[in-house]
Amino acid sequence: MTLHEMMVDEIRDLYHAEKQLTKALPKLAKAATNDDLREAFEMHLEETQEQITRLEEVFEALGEKVKAKPCAGMAGIIEEGNDTMKEDADGAVMDAALIAAAQRAEHYEIGAYGTCIEWARLMGHTEVVALLEQTLEEEKATDKKLTMLAESEINQAALAEGGHEDGEEEEEETGRRVAKASGARKQTSRRQASKGGTRGRAKAADRRR
Ligand SMILES: [Fe+2]
Repeated sequence: MTLHEMMVDEIRDLYHAEKQLTKALPKLAKAATNDDLREAFEMHLEETQEQITRLEEVFEALGEKVKAKPCAGMAGIIEEGNDTMKEDADGAVMDAALIAAAQRAEHYEIGAYGTCIEWARLMGHTEVVALLEQTLEEEKATDKKLTMLAESEINQAALAEGGHEDGEEEEEETGRRVAKASGARKQTSRRQASKGGTRGRAKAADRRR
């Protein structure tokens, strides 16, 4: 097997990975309670559909048949995500877990696209490099956005929903819990303000009421 054949194989693997994601992303969007997170999943679904078209252009540029190769890696990541969605967690805790699942998918893709780009560059497939780089940039941007959503609002909201049990008594009194939660948020408010998390926090607070 030549490096060229190996590259075509990897691209077919990615083609299947993207196709699987077009089925998984609507489920993630449906399970998300945070509006910004849901929008991020919906936006990435649209991008993923374009990425599939882009991969078809890659096959064409290489003079290869458009064909998918079963991608066990992405199938496993999606299966784990499906298990996560069945967990008994709601609100921000589920949102935080959905981000964890989605970022695994993004990182898988970032690794695979990076490799294919490098191999295509090495073999002089300029058009293929340009096409794959567009997708890689979208994957990186999605990953970054998910990190931003987690760090600026969702993780903190998940923690405030009672995610930390060590050394704490269960507090049944909602008022106390809310007061405690807002205190926890205050500690990071400066960092969040710079990331524009105010709107999301207000929404998260609305849902708790
Ligand atoms: Fe993708």
